Amino acid sequence: MYTLPFDTYPLLRPFAFLFDPEVAHNLAMGCLKKGLIPCPPKVDYPTLHTFFGGTELPHPIGLGAGFDKQAEIIPQLFDLGFSHVEIGGVTPKPQPGNPKPRMFRIAEAGALINRFNLNSIGFDAFLRRLEAWYDLTPREKRGMVGVNIARGDNCLDDVEAFIWGIKKFSPYVRFVTLNISCPNEACARQLEAEDKLKELLERVKNTIETLEKKPLLIVKISPDQTEEQAQAIARAALTFSIDGMIVSNTTATRPPSVKSSPLAHQRGGLSGKPLFEMSTKLLGYMYQATGGKIPLIGSGGVFTGEDAYAKIRKGASIVQVYTAFVFRGPFVAAHICKELDACLRRDGFSSVVDAVGADFKK
Ligand SMILES: Cc1cc2nc3c(=O)[nH]c(=O)nc-3n(C[C@H](O)[C@H](O)[C@H](O)COP(=O)(O)O)c2cc1C
Repeated sequence: MYTLPFDTYPLLRPFAFLFDPEVAHNLAMGCLKKGLIPCPPKVDYPTLHTFFGGTELPHPIGLGAGFDKQAEIIPQLFDLGFSHVEIGGVTPKPQPGNPKPRMFRIAEAGALINRFNLNSIGFDAFLRRLEAWYDLTPREKRGMVGVNIARGDNCLDDVEAFIWGIKKFSPYVRFVTLNISCPNEACARQLEAEDKLKELLERVKNTIETLEKKPLLIVKISPDQTEEQAQAIARAALTFSIDGMIVSNTTATRPPSVKSSPLAHQRGGLSGKPLFEMSTKLLGYMYQATGGKIPLIGSGGVFTGEDAYAKIRKGASIVQVYTAFVFRGPFVAAHICKELDACLRRDGFSSVVDAVGADFKK
């Protein structure tokens, strides 16, 4: 990868948007693999230094699951300036996902709808890639990598699928995310029911205790919760002292800002700007319901530093983006960091850590 002092994506985007979104994504992946995409210059913002689960991070902005689903471009993603990278979702067995087309771009609303339904190379092939990356990368360059695990289509036992994945991947990653909220997976959301979730967390926690290298345990939840369901998840998270919660995945609903789009009727999970408000509201709810005791990762519609700042003020310790990568391009993390630094300074914060949950503090 090579560094460019300026961002060329605003010029290239109209061309990229001529392609079907999945084709554009695959082209971008190919270019990233070959080092054809420029990286932004590295800038250190002391205001943005933070910690998550005991790991020091240069800033809070990471890449969410689903972009590098098959663990192909981890080093390149760090070169683009993300502070942490979540790879996957990966399923136990290889599965093709839904037929194409399965990703839709609603450009005027800054949104995507996807119904990939977890196209995955499966645990074994994924593990081989992860091992290769780990062996080739010096320790100080590995960065904070997490694996997003999903139960998949042909799995007999939900909990066993997660346990199997955790055992396989834990030697290589800093965190594992249990994706219990994929809107495209019929059974995944049943795991959000309180008794199922408690059973899952108890068994997963017991497994992690037996592992030599213990990954952080993160749970990713859906934004489409009733208050009662959200309360139940908060209780379970506290009971088992999980290490973090991602709030949130994509939504199966269609907020007013996309309803008039001709693509809004497409089945699948909606991400991007229209998800911002509902996912940020749930984030604030979770922060309060857990008394700030469970570190939260804000996800959903973050496009700018102001968006990231709003998530942090509502209780997010760190933030993830996905859809903004499509709309703002490979310099997205660099742009958001610069804007976030400006927001913090404007409001008199010398450290992002002090802004976490600021909306609920006197
Ligand atoms: C095409 C696509 C694929 C995704 N795949 C996954 C996935 O495999 N597992 C997962 O937990 N989340 C997945 N997500 C959800 C994102 O990680 C993120 O939580 C969500 O898109 C909201 O953030 P955003 O508005 O910044 O995109 C996917 C999102 C998109 C757009």
